[in-house]
Amino acid sequence: MSAAPFRWSKKILRAVIGGLLRPGDDDHLVQGLAKIALDVRRGQGKQLNALNVFFQYATAASFMRNLRPLARVLELGTGYSTLLYARLLPPEVVLVSLDAKPLADYDIGLPLSRLTRRVRFERGFTITRQELAAFHEAPDRESYAGVPAAALATTAAGFVRAGTSSYATHLNLPPDRDPAQEALQRLFPGGRLAGLARLLPKDYAAEAAVLPASGQGALAGLLAEPGDFDAVFLDCGEFSTAVEWLAVRQRIRIGGLAIFHDIYFPKSVKSFLPCAAMAASSDWRILYQDRSTPQGLLVAERLA
Ligand SMILES: C[S@@+](CC[C@H](N)C(=O)[O-])C[C@H]1O[C@@H](n2cnc3c(N)ncnc32)[C@H](O)[C@@H]1O
Repeated sequence: MSAAPFRWSKKILRAVIGGLLRPGDDDHLVQGLAKIALDVRRGQGKQLNALNVFFQYATAASFMRNLRPLARVLELGTGYSTLLYARLLPPEVVLVSLDAKPLADYDIGLPLSRLTRRVRFERGFTITRQELAAFHEAPDRESYAGVPAAALATTAAGFVRAGTSSYATHLNLPPDRDPAQEALQRLFPGGRLAGLARLLPKDYAAEAAVLPASGQGALAGLLAEPGDFDAVFLDCGEFSTAVEWLAVRQRIRIGGLAIFHDIYFPKSVKSFLPCAAMAASSDWRILYQDRSTPQGLLVAERLA
């Protein structure tokens, strides 16, 4: 990789951090960022990726900032994104961030805990194991989010990218064939949408095991409150996100934004399916698709 874009990214990051964060107040965040992004002992490729993820969150914040009206934002998956959104969104915007992890368990726990007056932190699992199983362990599907599997199979091609990941390894794609084509065939056997529990049983079981067995997930509790969201950022569980999307999509107001991180399969299994469904639906318009990192970012507007 050429060193020039890397040097520029570091410069831009420093400028962004300098403009965003309060010296003294945010020392721990700066240290955390330094660890992930500016640590010269890490390879430049990894550093650049960490920087670009940071820029992706900044881009998402920029889309939200420019939205009118902007009163309520929901984030699924607390972390660096929360710190950025808390700083970048106007103070009157209600920012709700849901995650099962206690703030104290984050490497950036201190800066997060300083935001408890700015951010409504909800701690809990979005959904239950029962809800996860009802979706991923069901027989191969004819549709998802109202989109027929045949249409999904076409648009999903925009969210499948060859690359290395533990999921790619576990899928055991044959080396002599086009990995993206092969991945698509696994996802849509016989034109139907395959259950991910069957494609990636070990990964699926590991995520399912940590969820509460039954009862009500924290997302259902949040959605029982009145009012729609102007924007929802989805960056939560690998297998839970496809299920969360079904619950939350109708609660984004018309004209509001859905923002997804980790949009490429099989680097991640998180968001490719909601993204493919939006790409195939006249109810959504994709405003932005970022390929600057293997994770990617997508911003879409609800039209109807
Ligand atoms: C990729 S990380 C979030 C990244 C975050 N947006 C950031 O910028 O650092 C995913 C998060 O989702 C949380 N998580 C995964 N599955 C969950 C679930 N079903 N319910 C609640 N939180 C979950 C994890 O605890 C983890 O903090």
